[in-house]
Amino acid sequence: MTGEASSLVEVGPVSRFLEDGDRVVTKAGEHEILTLACDGEIFAVGNRCSHRPWWLDGGKVLPATCEIECTLHLGRFSLRSGAVTEGPPKRPIRTYDVEVIDDVVHVRVPSSVSGS
Ligand code: FES
Repeated sequence: MTGEASSLVEVGPVSRFLEDGDRVVTKAGEHEILTLACDGEIFAVGNRCSHRPWWLDGGKVLPATCEIECTLHLGRFSLRSGAVTEGPPKRPIRTYDVEVIDDVVHVRVPSSVSGS
């Protein structure tokens, strides 16, 4: 337990995440969170590319590797870790923990982390 304050933000029912690439964008304070389905799992990442100020929610999800591809310069990120898997971005994107409670998807948002 780190003592870091966080809150659970409701995203929507699990029925919104049945197919690879199904996605929902949620705003929570300074956070803009992209929640996506891939390979039977649900992931949540920051909705901004780390390369330039650009949104990731229009990006293609690659189901075999659970990566998202930015539409602007085709940078790729792991949905599991946020790590860059294909250039040009150098920095990872933020990831958020996902919790399903009573068939509703929630994302855990740290209160102390500033948005990017
Ligand atoms: Fe995303 Fe350049 S803005 S790869």
